[in-house]
Amino acid sequence: MAISKLGVLGAGAMGAGIAQISAQAGLKVVLVDIDQKFVDRGLQTMNKNWEKDASKGKITQEDKERFLGNIQTSLDKSALKDCELVIEAIIENIDIKKQAFRELGEICSPSTVLATNTSGLSITEIGAASGRPDRVVGMHFFNPVPVMRLVEVIPGEETTEETVELAMEVSRIIGKTPIRAKEAPGFIVNRLLVPYLNDAAHAYQEGVASAEDIDLAMKLGANMPIGPLALCDLVGIDVLLMVVEHFYKEFGDPKFRPALALKQKVRAGHFGVKTGKGFFDYT
Ligand code: CAA
Repeated sequence: MAISKLGVLGAGAMGAGIAQISAQAGLKVVLVDIDQKFVDRGLQTMNKNWEKDASKGKITQEDKERFLGNIQTSLDKSALKDCELVIEAIIENIDIKKQAFRELGEICSPSTVLATNTSGLSITEIGAASGRPDRVVGMHFFNPVPVMRLVEVIPGEETTEETVELAMEVSRIIGKTPIRAKEAPGFIVNRLLVPYLNDAAHAYQEGVASAEDIDLAMKLGANMPIGPLALCDLVGIDVLLMVVEHFYKEFGDPKFRPALALKQKVRAGHFGVKTGKGFFDYT
């Protein structure tokens, strides 16, 4: 195996998903967050998924215990110091990510590769903050992580080929199909998907149709597995808005103007599935 011990920083939906599939693949996982309640929520999500798999006969209770036994949790980043690879999956904010990479750069062994699950921020900028830009790479996963098969692997300006290869190899070990993308806002998937989701929110704001009908239209008329507004709720409207705003700034193109409907949902604290309300209700 390319690595035996993987660190995950951030136990939210993405971090917990990455920890789950890595533990399933037999890696020792160190999962770190800043508050025990986030760690507990992440463990609960994994537990729920494993219970579901066990009830379908896909895994046994012993498998579940073994997976859980592969996960160590901590509130202290220094628990990540001897991991061969650390994947960061914290809030999509460049200043907070840079601060986290500055700390990881100081804490982790010089050989540790640091990956970011950013949806579209600059790998080069994050890498520069770490003090080891040659060993920083983007590893972009998709929600829900246990189901979605892709990982986009994105080198920054100074990332070495060896670092990219490690990210590709680990992606395969944890059951994903990696593809390589250049550093550009949104890489591949979000470059195409985010304008579509933002447009659906514009259409909703303009009253083109109800939320239900916009989603039904794309499911029945374009064979999408899920409607665009339900997908906004799944991704997190707060995350989506940050990505659209980043696109608007980076491309300077009015086609990326964030929909007012996204801003209003965020201002109201209705981020989607994770808060129980977004374009649809989940309570
Ligand atoms: N965690 C783990 N497993 C899950 C899950 C979750 N959150 N949600 C669904 N599943 C599993 C189910 O257990 C089920 O497994 P089995 O096949 O073993 O029974 C399987 O997925 C299918 O689920 P359902 O039958 O309940 O529901 P569905 O057919 O509607 O599928 C879905 C659910 C796969 C999520 C589907 O709705 C889908 O494909 N949605 C689109 C997801 C997508 O586009 N994600 C990308 C978002 S963009 C992003 O993440 C990047 C970013 O940076 C913003």
